[in-house]
Amino acid sequence: MSVRRLAKDQPAAFAFSADTMAKAEWWIKKYPESRRQSAVIPILWLVQKQEGWVSEPAIRAIGELLGMAYIRVLEVATFYTMFMLEPIGKTALIQVCGTTPCMLRGANELMRVCKEKIGPKDHLSADGRFTWQEVECLGAC
Ligand code: FES
Repeated sequence: MSVRRLAKDQPAAFAFSADTMAKAEWWIKKYPESRRQSAVIPILWLVQKQEGWVSEPAIRAIGELLGMAYIRVLEVATFYTMFMLEPIGKTALIQVCGTTPCMLRGANELMRVCKEKIGPKDHLSADGRFTWQEVECLGAC
């Protein structure tokens, strides 16, 4: 697993859409007021569904919404690989398993093709259509 960092290019601001905010409030109400921070993962997911990825301004906005330190939201966003920290391809996000059983069955060759056709892993292709990532076991082995 590689180090996960926020994208270098960040938008100037983030705003919750009305739909995202309504869903976020629904999640927050599931927990006692003193535990509203427990909604951080579903709200990160909602933001990703809204924007396609999780930006730094969005992480700050989530921290404000939940009364959490920004660094704590950042820790969650960078820990879970399901959160995209930079824009991803509009056509497809390709995940290639790099765990031993798949390596033995040709994952390196798939990664070579992805690198050749799409570009470096974890980055948007030049045409903005594709992103590929190396991931751990996907349960397909
Ligand atoms: S080891 Fe690759 S999918 Fe399980």
